[in-house]
Amino acid sequence: MNRTALIIHGGAGAREGIHSGKDDYARSLRKILPAAWDVLAEDGARAAVLQAVRLLEDDPLFNAGFGSRLQMDGIARMSAALMDGVAGRFSGVINVERVRHPIDVAAALGGERHRVLAGEHATRYAHSLGMQDFDPVTPHRMAEHQRRLAGDTGTVGAVAIDRQGRIWAATSTGGVGFEAPGRVSDSATVAGTYADAGVGVSCTGVGEDIVDHAAATRVAVRVADGMDLEAAIRRTLVEADRRRLEYGLIAVDGDGQARAGSSAGVTTIWAARDRTGQRDFMDGEG
Ligand code: GLY
Repeated sequence: MNRTALIIHGGAGAREGIHSGKDDYARSLRKILPAAWDVLAEDGARAAVLQAVRLLEDDPLFNAGFGSRLQMDGIARMSAALMDGVAGRFSGVINVERVRHPIDVAAALGGERHRVLAGEHATRYAHSLGMQDFDPVTPHRMAEHQRRLAGDTGTVGAVAIDRQGRIWAATSTGGVGFEAPGRVSDSATVAGTYADAGVGVSCTGVGEDIVDHAAATRVAVRVADGMDLEAAIRRTLVEADRRRLEYGLIAVDGDGQARAGSSAGVTTIWAARDRTGQRDFMDGEG
């Protein structure tokens, strides 16, 4: 059975303070999904999630990489994570500056003994690998910062399973904007990005809520205990709603099901392809 599947997201509440409408986000995701799908077929799940997230980071519409929001002191500090479901290995970068693709820093850290780096040391590490100095600040984000605009959310992510049944999950974020300098988001924690042999999850939404709920691992443990992916997501989001937590997530399981969900009042934009075909839409309340 071909279980190949890929799902990508462009954040929850990504439209806050932004000039663009749902259609712009959907158009971008519809372009990026097939490009990453081709990579999945050719080079497997790791390469596909990395390519999807790189393309999302390059698109200034999304709050990750180029077009990241700025922290209160006017600096863009970005975070990203990658997890290999087969090896059960997580790597991540927190508050890295001046790189084009934070996800590539997280990927490089996957080969290191110490697999999560933060702050100036993370930036130095990235540049020591030969990654070019890159200014991720767009005029739009600068104007947003000058208006002291904070969002609640904004992140990108991808989860895939390849023909060999290998699951990888990846997430990248510019944070919420106008946050305290040095704030740590959920993305480079196992609450925001998680994969094991049976499921991969990438979250978006209010980072503090995602961490409080251990959202990605909560879904993964449910699936590991035998719950169907859709039921695991539903149960998790019902619990999130009871606590008024605000987030969305995307996931792929070992059977090649790609699913997404959002807690009440949250809109997650996503696109997916699996054996049931290609789907894309806003999930949650628009
Ligand atoms: N989920 C992204 C953030 O809170 O920074």
